Amino acid sequence: MRPGEKSGGNRFGLFVHWGLYAIPAVHEQVLARGDWKHEDYEALAGRFDPVRFDPGEWVRMAKDAGMTYLCVTAKHHDGFCLWDTKQTDYNIMRTPYGRDILAMLAEACERGGMKLSLYYSLPDWHHPDAYNPLSSHQWKAKRTEGGDYAAYLDFVKAQVRELLTNYGPIYTFFWDIPPLIHDPSVNELVRSLQPGILINDRGFDRGDFATPERTVPEGERFPAMTEACQSVGAESWGYRAEEDYFSASHLMSSVDKIMAMGGSYLLNVGPTAEGTIPEVSKTLLGRIGRWYTRVSESLEGAGPASRPYSIRGSDPCIVTEKDGYTYFHFWNGLTRTAFTFLNEDLPEPRRAVLCNTGEELVLRYGTLPTLMDEDHVARRKLWSVANIPVDEIPGEPPVVRIEWK
Ligand code: GLC
Repeated sequence: MRPGEKSGGNRFGLFVHWGLYAIPAVHEQVLARGDWKHEDYEALAGRFDPVRFDPGEWVRMAKDAGMTYLCVTAKHHDGFCLWDTKQTDYNIMRTPYGRDILAMLAEACERGGMKLSLYYSLPDWHHPDAYNPLSSHQWKAKRTEGGDYAAYLDFVKAQVRELLTNYGPIYTFFWDIPPLIHDPSVNELVRSLQPGILINDRGFDRGDFATPERTVPEGERFPAMTEACQSVGAESWGYRAEEDYFSASHLMSSVDKIMAMGGSYLLNVGPTAEGTIPEVSKTLLGRIGRWYTRVSESLEGAGPASRPYSIRGSDPCIVTEKDGYTYFHFWNGLTRTAFTFLNEDLPEPRRAVLCNTGEELVLRYGTLPTLMDEDHVARRKLWSVANIPVDEIPGEPPVVRIEWK
């Protein structure tokens, strides 16, 4: 969302890293990080058979969590393609499963009213011409000499044509690993095939939006359109059997901060080789979703604060506004049961509601005992929002809605 824009596309979405790497269940880059031989890794295609894959269930799970789009790794660094591509045999149709996973997902998304986005890796450890000495993640390039990057670029464009022609409307396009080559013709092709698509900043030009990864950025408002991404798994994006997970409270805090700053948030899961979402991931998503769906009115399409509220206290707070309401996001939690804001130039608040529970909070007008001796006390009348049941919502960032007279 651009600064000053009142309502943006800031959304909560599901990121899905899925491919052959789900079989060894270590990391999505296990080919490189585990220093596998190419032929051993590529042989996994002969075993990929996710018989329990139910795209409708994935979409339901994402929707239940309040998500409105799903971004799937059409092709990751290993070069294996989840769709029926005519550009290489290294694809889902040549596995025991033999069904176009992307088509199945696209159909489930359409039925469920979920937008579909595509991730596409520029490093490709299967294609003989993909080596790019300017870029990173080239460790397992098929060859580092004698390649023809122009030929690879033709291959990429041909794949982009398939992806953006055969699978219905695509919401965003997520290039991965900046090639550090400037070539606007690539995104021009993307836009010509899907007018209105949003493109990230990891491709051949700056695209439309920034992509902070696995961080909670500083500040209160993104200067330009942003989509942050994070995985429930702390060590891997793809399925890792022995994964270490982030806490729900850490993830909720990040979602609240980033979306209150006007960004979108892609939260990733790595499905298993059978096609199921790991139980721990499901449980986390359920918890986050139960919080998110109660506070999402304060995030989706909300604008920045239109005036200073001078909130007292040390708990960091970002203020958003939407439809005449003001929302106070204590994304890092509240250490006390009340907060105050100054009423200078403000209309009078009529009601304060804790979005987390829907309950009405106490509103008090006055000063605080510790402020009594200040000279300007008369002018320093504060509104207190009190009796916030902080201990009843453990781990959840409190979001308070103020309705004005
Ligand atoms: C990093 C990783 C890659 C992952 C991506 C998600 O670029 O190298 O494996 O897909 O982050 O943003």
